[in-house]
Amino acid sequence: VPVARIRNFCIIAHIDHGKSTLADRLLQATGTVADRDMKAQFLDNMELERERGITIKLQAARMNYKAKDGQQYVLNLIDTPGHVDFSYEVSRSLAACEGALLVVDASQGVEAQTLANVYLALENNLEIIPVLNKIDLPGAEPERVKKEIEEIIGLDCSGAILASAKEGIGIDEILESIVHLIPAPQDTVSQPLRALIFDSYYDSYRGVIVYFRVMDGTVKKGDRIRLMATGKEYEIDELGVLSPNQIQVGELHAGEVGYVAAAIKAVEDARVGDTITLAYEPAAEPLPGYAQAKPMVFCGMFPTDADRFPDLREALEKLKLNDAALSYEPETSSAMGFGFRCGFLGLLHMEIVQERLEREYNLDLIITAPSVIYRVTPVKGEILYIDNPSHLPDPQHREKIEEPYVQVDMITPEEYVGTLMELSQTRRGIFKDMKYLTQGRTTLSYELPLAEVVTDFFDQMKSRSRGYASMEYHLIGYRENPLVRLDILINNDPVDSLAMIVHRDKAYNVGRSLVEKLKELIPRHQFKIPLQAAIGSKIIASEHIPALRKDVLAKCYGGDISRKKKLLQKQAKGKKRMKAIGTVDVPQEAFMAVLRLD
Ligand code: GTP
Repeated sequence: VPVARIRNFCIIAHIDHGKSTLADRLLQATGTVADRDMKAQFLDNMELERERGITIKLQAARMNYKAKDGQQYVLNLIDTPGHVDFSYEVSRSLAACEGALLVVDASQGVEAQTLANVYLALENNLEIIPVLNKIDLPGAEPERVKKEIEEIIGLDCSGAILASAKEGIGIDEILESIVHLIPAPQDTVSQPLRALIFDSYYDSYRGVIVYFRVMDGTVKKGDRIRLMATGKEYEIDELGVLSPNQIQVGELHAGEVGYVAAAIKAVEDARVGDTITLAYEPAAEPLPGYAQAKPMVFCGMFPTDADRFPDLREALEKLKLNDAALSYEPETSSAMGFGFRCGFLGLLHMEIVQERLEREYNLDLIITAPSVIYRVTPVKGEILYIDNPSHLPDPQHREKIEEPYVQVDMITPEEYVGTLMELSQTRRGIFKDMKYLTQGRTTLSYELPLAEVVTDFFDQMKSRSRGYASMEYHLIGYRENPLVRLDILINNDPVDSLAMIVHRDKAYNVGRSLVEKLKELIPRHQFKIPLQAAIGSKIIASEHIPALRKDVLAKCYGGDISRKKKLLQKQAKGKKRMKAIGTVDVPQEAFMAVLRLD
């Protein structure tokens, strides 16, 4: 097809507003996927994603569409992940498009994450087509939601499409709008090759499969390509399009979307945002906007069974092949033994990795509470970046500590403004802005330390607003604060993996609540266990777990053996995931106790 008849677009939508359902409809309506092959939701195909009902990794699909003007068009849909942890990937898939469908649930309205992505799309100069989905619902209020989009985003909604992805309403109109409103790519086929990588995944047979949009020039099967950020070169084994299954082609030109396989060993070598060019006729400059996704949240991961440390290492190596943003390095803890300190883009990313390690690799892990990266200026020497609270230098050795701050934008029904302000304030938030939107909906902005957000801020926001509020956050820089290291001692031994960095003014309360929580969570032993919280050598809170008196088996001594066995089995089944720290068995929940302080 000539470039004038290609349209590249993505769908911007808040979780559950119907992005996947709509994508499926478009694939069906264009005959890309036959009805009988239509598994529920073609685009999100990771099991985990489907279970959680969220899109994590992006994919793409090429559709052939015969428009009402009688012409044949190629429509490339590039999917975007729906979560704030992956906003860099979103920005790269937007950069690969000329337009976007903005899908908003007509019974809900604009949400914080949608807004963040619309602004990204506007920065990339995309043509935005508003689509009000779910108009079949009795509670749909398309007029109110249109007004909301106009007021918040300043987007003209007179031509907004009323649709129901579920009922198949408005689908033709959406396809026609894509053809008529979204501009064709520029015809830069005569320039040196530049292709933008917007996704990649690891395949154990073919190596990394790279998804890209050709921005300039032409790429052919057999070409020797160079990845401009890493400088590495590869021979293309396989070139193709996604329709949505992979179909091989001989060449792809400026404006087209496709994939390559070139025996690339890890996704790290073909990162999202990197530019593909030809090794023999390289482009002078890479495409703009490349950045390496940086981990922002860290935690320790330790196998409950120390013998499985090599298995954990192997599992992390494998996951890393497919996840350039995951970082890990060996960590030795005096309390926990050998494990890894792992870095993630955000909490969701952390949960996904943890779940995959446990499910796909059958590992029992103890995970320590998440931490952020602190910037420490020592009295002598160079600035330190500390991602492990137990490594914080003592006060006499440091000049100052700075911590990362984020701007958090929330959208909420008016009645929850009070409770969300209170939440933000108790998390050391600085109020920035509040605006009333339509009919009792309000935007609320705060600056908050990231450390206060990565604990349970999101869950708290959701529960306080009965699920109605949404949020988005982005990093705004480092700020100095009087922070201290809070140590926890179990049975008089400091437990390095329970150490945390807290604001001086909150240390006393956090310390006290934490030892109280640990008292609840750690089971009784045969001996008395003292629990303490300390700052330096000063104990600020203490409790103890009384000794256990009776032996559980005592009552069946003398009874028949099968009954004893049964009791032991029952106990084994109910046995929690534990880590022995000294002589004390500490359950997994204890390491996360800090996330559950009230
Ligand atoms: P993420 O993958 O998490 O981004 O969600 P999504 O935006 O892809 O939402 P999805 O398509 O999975 O739809 C969410 C829910 O809304 C599903 O239960 C759909 O069946 C339902 N849904 C989607 N479109 C419509 C619609 O037009 N009308 C009604 N009534 N329900 C719809």
